[in-house]
Amino acid sequence: MRINSARLQASLETMAQIGRTPGGGVTRLALSDEDKAARDLLARWLAEAGLTVQVDDFGNMLARRPGSDPAAAPVRLGSHLDTVRQGGRFDGALGVLAALEVVRTLNDAGAVTRRPIEIVNWTNEEGARFEPAMLGSGAATGRFTKAFVYGRADREGRTFGDELVRIGYCGDPAQRPGPAHAYLELHIEQGPVLEEAGVPVGVVEGIIGITWCQVTVEGQSAHAGTMPLARRRDALQAAAHLVLATRELARQAGPDARATVGRFIVEPNVTNVIPGRVSFSVDFRHPEAALLDRLVEQLHARAEQVAAAEGVRISIERFWTSEPTPFDPAVKETIEAAVRELGMPFQRLWSGAGHDAKYMQDCCPSGMIFVRSQGGLSHCEQEASTPEDIAAGANVLLAATLRLAELVSH
Ligand code: GLV
Ligand code: MN
Ligand code: MN
Repeated sequence: MRINSARLQASLETMAQIGRTPGGGVTRLALSDEDKAARDLLARWLAEAGLTVQVDDFGNMLARRPGSDPAAAPVRLGSHLDTVRQGGRFDGALGVLAALEVVRTLNDAGAVTRRPIEIVNWTNEEGARFEPAMLGSGAATGRFTKAFVYGRADREGRTFGDELVRIGYCGDPAQRPGPAHAYLELHIEQGPVLEEAGVPVGVVEGIIGITWCQVTVEGQSAHAGTMPLARRRDALQAAAHLVLATRELARQAGPDARATVGRFIVEPNVTNVIPGRVSFSVDFRHPEAALLDRLVEQLHARAEQVAAAEGVRISIERFWTSEPTPFDPAVKETIEAAVRELGMPFQRLWSGAGHDAKYMQDCCPSGMIFVRSQGGLSHCEQEASTPEDIAAGANVLLAATLRLAELVSH
């Protein structure tokens, strides 16, 4: 059994029209009108594949293809349809639409599996609109409270809860995804490892640790022409020192550490006014939890030095941590057996990106398959993978699903 590559490409292409950017990418922020259109399209395709769709109170969409054993726990496949601002066409969409392609392929073959197969579209994986990331899967697995999730606000102050209701995807708590036998997520690699190794697919060892901090620097706004340099309390000059420090700290922590300041707000942001207040994000990543903690401690120490030298106040709120998470050894073995069965060259590698599979691994055996990314680019409009590599990844997803869900007949 093999997936239909042309049909999968057509689905990816159609989905990429929703929120399409002039630069060839996609902006489909969680719970936006574009996200609603993408969800509506997915619901229609799921219905056409004979599946009924349920929606939980976090907007997570779940559809089930029954198995021959009504008592058996399902094998769950999925990812997310939201994107970052000016993101790519594959991050998330690939995992959802490849899961759909697996079900379409099974339908074409008249295949029966012992276990049910579920397709899931998790809400707000990116955290680009409502921070932190992986909010829908985290909420469904009990990591975040409903009050916390519903109260998360975007840059305009609109909340997750209000926007969920507005787009018509506030479902029922009873429809939250239940226990699963296993969870599989197909995703583009989003980095250069597979390309450098010259292999189309990867078996993911696990997901590195991620911590997000909100840094606020408070100085004093004043006139750009009249206030002498020595008397200034310039929040932006202070913030600049701290931004440079994040990279320096990550470099000192070794080749596996990452530090990114991706969101930065200057107030009042006027040419002839000394900035009085700056806030920015810090995204630290490391495969070891202890080193992640150390990076945050070092940032605090640097902030104290900068605050004293620049006459400003600096606060750092570490508001989210996703611990380093190895995937289930048996699921990894199953994926690897599926790749070998297909005769594909592959590599094992860690994920530097966060994925909903992290929170799934916290409650059921999980694993991920990566597809080679061209130029290692992702979270940008240039994100790309060849149709051949995408088909390779989707066929691994199909083969691993058949092993886990136990093919009865076709
Ligand atoms: C999700 O895309 C993340 O790794 O931040
Ligand atoms: Mn993703
Ligand atoms: Mn992403």
